[in-house]
Amino acid sequence: MDNRPIGIFDSGFGGLTAVRALRAICPEENIVFFADNGRAPYGGRPLRQLRHMARQNLDVAAACGAKVIFAACGTLSSNASDILRAYPVPAFGVLDAAVAEIASEQSAAPIGVIATEATVRSGAFERALRAACPGREIISVACPDFVPLIESGCVGWDDPALRRAVEDYLRPLKAQGIGTLLLGCTHYGLIDAALRRYLGEQVRLVDASACAAAFIKHYLEENGLCGGEGSLRCLTSGELDRFERLAPLFLGQEEPPQTEAVPVMPAEEDK
Ligand code: DGL
Repeated sequence: MDNRPIGIFDSGFGGLTAVRALRAICPEENIVFFADNGRAPYGGRPLRQLRHMARQNLDVAAACGAKVIFAACGTLSSNASDILRAYPVPAFGVLDAAVAEIASEQSAAPIGVIATEATVRSGAFERALRAACPGREIISVACPDFVPLIESGCVGWDDPALRRAVEDYLRPLKAQGIGTLLLGCTHYGLIDAALRRYLGEQVRLVDASACAAAFIKHYLEENGLCGGEGSLRCLTSGELDRFERLAPLFLGQEEPPQTEAVPVMPAEEDK
């Protein structure tokens, strides 16, 4: 039995999709989730900043006594995977988990990847998919409007701004006849119904957050780290009220989770 919490972080509400998926399959685990809402979105930030922020977020999770840390964030996973790997507490990101899932598919159809600008710019998902799925065409599209829309609560197909963005970003992928769409940003699981509505049933959606949960469960079991009382503690660097209002929606529960406000950390290193 290891009752220490699992540390999970993201720029905001997207990471809650990973928390929700993990609680569904590991209900006994204690989880500390850090939502860096005060600095969201991450997806348009320069590489240097993202790497600095990855170190800071790892330190937040480690200070909470995490037994394992998970970057529920495609942007930090793809721009700071070496930093995660070298961290003294075992740390992983959504990239590895999602690519492993797609590698097991029996399909030759093109793979679409949607993610933030910084994730697509890093090329990390494309490189990993090319190595894992030789011969399959990979088409990546950056979707910079999705995270701000989701963070402001626009998540349904009936929301005109979201619908327009879905159509604009996914049109080229639909035209190419993709068989799989990798949601390379953990926020996108919150709009999966709208993505599905536009693409139709024949395209398989692979949500990086859902893959992350299975990956963490496997890691805990393999390393004898399972255990806890099923608690969830959240930290937000954004507005407490807003977090408490929106988090239940994304967690699929009625009550807000126990949440503390924490200060916004500087995005640049001190000189
Ligand atoms: N949810 C994160 C990701 O998976 C961050 C998105 C953002 O803040 O731009 O990339």
